[in-house]
Amino acid sequence: MRKGTKPLLEVKDLVLGFNIEDEFINVIDNVSFSINKGEIVGLVGESGCGKSITSLSVMRLLPRTAVVPNGEIFFNSKDLLKISEDDMIGMRGKEIAMIFQEPMTSLNPVYTIGDQISEILLLHRKMSKKEAVNKSIEKLKIVSIPSPEKVIKQYPHELSGGMRQRVMIAMAMACNPKVLIADEPTTALDVTIQAQILDLIKDLKDETQASILLITHDLGVVAEMCDYVIVMYAGRVVEEADIYSIYENPQHPYTVGLLKSLPTLNEIRTRLHTIKGTVPAPKDFLQGCRFAPRCERATDICFNETPPLIEVGDTHKVRCFLASNREEDK
Ligand SMILES: Nc1ncnc2c1ncn2[C@@H]1O[C@H](COP(=O)(O)OP(=O)(O)O)[C@@H](O)[C@H]1O
Ligand SMILES: [Mg+2]
Repeated sequence: MRKGTKPLLEVKDLVLGFNIEDEFINVIDNVSFSINKGEIVGLVGESGCGKSITSLSVMRLLPRTAVVPNGEIFFNSKDLLKISEDDMIGMRGKEIAMIFQEPMTSLNPVYTIGDQISEILLLHRKMSKKEAVNKSIEKLKIVSIPSPEKVIKQYPHELSGGMRQRVMIAMAMACNPKVLIADEPTTALDVTIQAQILDLIKDLKDETQASILLITHDLGVVAEMCDYVIVMYAGRVVEEADIYSIYENPQHPYTVGLLKSLPTLNEIRTRLHTIKGTVPAPKDFLQGCRFAPRCERATDICFNETPPLIEVGDTHKVRCFLASNREEDK
């Protein structure tokens, strides 16, 4: 069963591409998914599958050259793609906040940590500069930053990667957003710090009841964190399911491949299975199933027709021609 019933954020039939030399190159093809209240939803796929671009659409922070010919993104029954930029500024950071893989690129190197957290508070909340500074210290305490009174006077480069990511999380959570989008928040960190940051995100979610879209290429992270999973391949959703079904009964050969490439306790990294080939660049997308060229089970139809996303369970959908008859030949 999926947690909650009412979607808080709903992406519907999102189509996105880039105009390159007068040609429209499709990157995101009819992507739909929703996040219910209090849920952690994982968005998974290898690098280049369109995870970041999808989340940047929600924030309306897309590169200038991006074109969105179709789609709706509902939050509180408002279509974020249609509201004014002013309304979006009121939404960003307050209702929906985002953290990125590399905090150095999203923290401003010339302002102190205190100034950067205060700025968000002052933008969205009525308070004095002094109150904002005190609140910033409080926010840093929540993310377990030691000596926050000292840290607010420091610049981003004076902090370690893990501490910078904590600062980013403090900034994102400063106004208690209803949705947090975390784009590979731990990919740049080493394993122990990674675990601490994931624990922190989970604790904050339990305290604030925020919903989270956790973007990662690592199904191991998903297993520990998420309630529901969306698997993307080359700009399309190829499978989505509750956390139990995705591990117990994966249906798409791409999901199966991702799961096989997870290290287990008694395996060494060098012997790990990997999916042969790479994610194609959008200009090389072929007709049919975009995974077909890498799929050991592909047949003629896979190269010619796009499989529909079909329901294979109450909370389980898959986009694969093989899905319905997988059970008997497993
Ligand atoms: N500014 C851009 N111009 C053209 N193509 C882009 C741009 N940004 C991203 N893309 C393309 O969009 C695709 C999806 O990218 P991205 O969302 O970053 O993938 P992911 O986050 O899953 O690694 C990639 O093929 C990438 O090359
Ligand atoms: Mg990305």
